[in-house]
Amino acid sequence: MGQPTPARTDWWRSAVIYQVYVRSFADGDGDGTGDLAGVRARLPYLAGLGVDALWFTPWYRSPMKDGGYDVADYRAIDPAFGTLAEAEKLIAEAGELGIRTIVDIVPNHVSDQHPWFRAALAGGPERELFHFRPGRGEQGELPPNDWRSEFGGPAWTRLPDGDWYLHLFAPEQPDLNWAHPTVRREHEDVLRFWFERGVAGVRIDSAALLAKDPRLPDLAGGRGPHPYVDRDELHDVYRAWRSIADAYGAVFVGEVWLPDSERFARYLRPDELHTAFNFSFLTCPWDAARLRAAIDETLAEHAPVGAPATWVLCNHDVTRTVTRYGRADTGFDFATKAFGTPTELALGTRRARAAALLSLALPGSVYVYQGEELGLPEAEVPVERIQDPMHARSGGTDPGRDGCRVPLPWAAGEPYAGFGSRQEPWLPQPAGWASYAVDRQQGDPASVLALYRAAIRLRPVFGDGPLTWLPAPDGVLAFTRAEDVLCVVNLAGTPADLPPHTGLLLGSGPLDDDGRLPTDTAVWLRA
Ligand code: NOJ
Repeated sequence: MGQPTPARTDWWRSAVIYQVYVRSFADGDGDGTGDLAGVRARLPYLAGLGVDALWFTPWYRSPMKDGGYDVADYRAIDPAFGTLAEAEKLIAEAGELGIRTIVDIVPNHVSDQHPWFRAALAGGPERELFHFRPGRGEQGELPPNDWRSEFGGPAWTRLPDGDWYLHLFAPEQPDLNWAHPTVRREHEDVLRFWFERGVAGVRIDSAALLAKDPRLPDLAGGRGPHPYVDRDELHDVYRAWRSIADAYGAVFVGEVWLPDSERFARYLRPDELHTAFNFSFLTCPWDAARLRAAIDETLAEHAPVGAPATWVLCNHDVTRTVTRYGRADTGFDFATKAFGTPTELALGTRRARAAALLSLALPGSVYVYQGEELGLPEAEVPVERIQDPMHARSGGTDPGRDGCRVPLPWAAGEPYAGFGSRQEPWLPQPAGWASYAVDRQQGDPASVLALYRAAIRLRPVFGDGPLTWLPAPDGVLAFTRAEDVLCVVNLAGTPADLPPHTGLLLGSGPLDDDGRLPTDTAVWLRA
């Protein structure tokens, strides 16, 4: 297979990367589930948007107990999505349009339907590839330790034979034992498998969770290194991965949720991962001082290791931006998600438009989650239709993540807003979804889609210089990178005077009658 356009080797340092959640992107065969045929048919749309790369959330064979993050076979495409041959075609066709492909590798766990786990359940030596332990209590009736699943409930499930196995996520996602050489070897082979197929990068799921303290101690009262978050032995794994990626000119982006910036930066040392997601920006409320602090901290933590920052406003796990910014609490926190949170969508949309210009002006790479470029809000999925395990495992209090995973609207006048299905899609689209359709926005210069297109096209005017903050009133963010281009964002309650400039390149909304920048509006200016 051909490698995608090898023109620039440092493309990832400033790329715009579009996240494709295949199941909800476009339905090519009409069965209600998005698929590779749907993506292939929409490649011209993605090229028109101007993105440099596509990140596909897991497209491998999976029982879909966690939206594909429960992988049964890393070398096969899920039949609901298509075939391996089709994935190869997709990678090649995207490459012809100058778009690179990033796949998602899930090394912390596999599906309980993965051949290794099935063999382990049958009592084979594969048990060593997982974490099986006897329980505590007289009859072994208590879990081996006090760890909790990220989705709620204990991180252990008991088998009929009395043993327990560890799963940091759903019970259908048993954790692998990364101390075992077979686990390491297998993942290195899987990387090569996809690099051989022309993939330009890999997103690493739950990248800081793989290694476990072999004693599996309780969390409560523990001192010293965490028994499963950010353990030192992980860096060895990623050094080995890096040498494989280097042989193919491929890159990594790690999903690394860590509050400690020094520990975070270790993953980005020159012989480890190229980039990692920056979640402080994603979780930050719509507040000038806090955003500025999040930006400064991010740039400062990346600087010593020479890695570019990544800027993400939303993804398939979090509340969509226009909804989040339209609420009283504009930050994001998994712990406080609730049903029925009052939301002012017009306000959220105005802010999300300004945030788009802010993030696309910052130094580093930017991720756009499918539908973000359409200004889609978080959908309220009827409770009986929710599939995300986060909902059920919270005891029904957490709405889960399906609200940001609803199938995209492509054509307003077609059934299911042109998603392509002949029957109702796997998640229902809410009333009014068609008004966000691509064909509605395409010809409208005031649409969110038009703003994203223009911003992605213009973004190179900022150059690759470092960010310099400019003096600005309270609540206003103003910075430059190239000498003569400025980004100004007004988060204050009153209109702001613009700094001296010779031209307006792009605005997230119109200026007021006095030429001032209204609240919740951003502009790119020629100085
Ligand atoms: C992070 C992924 O983004 C999320 O969707 C998934 O549920 C967990 N990792 C577990 O794989």
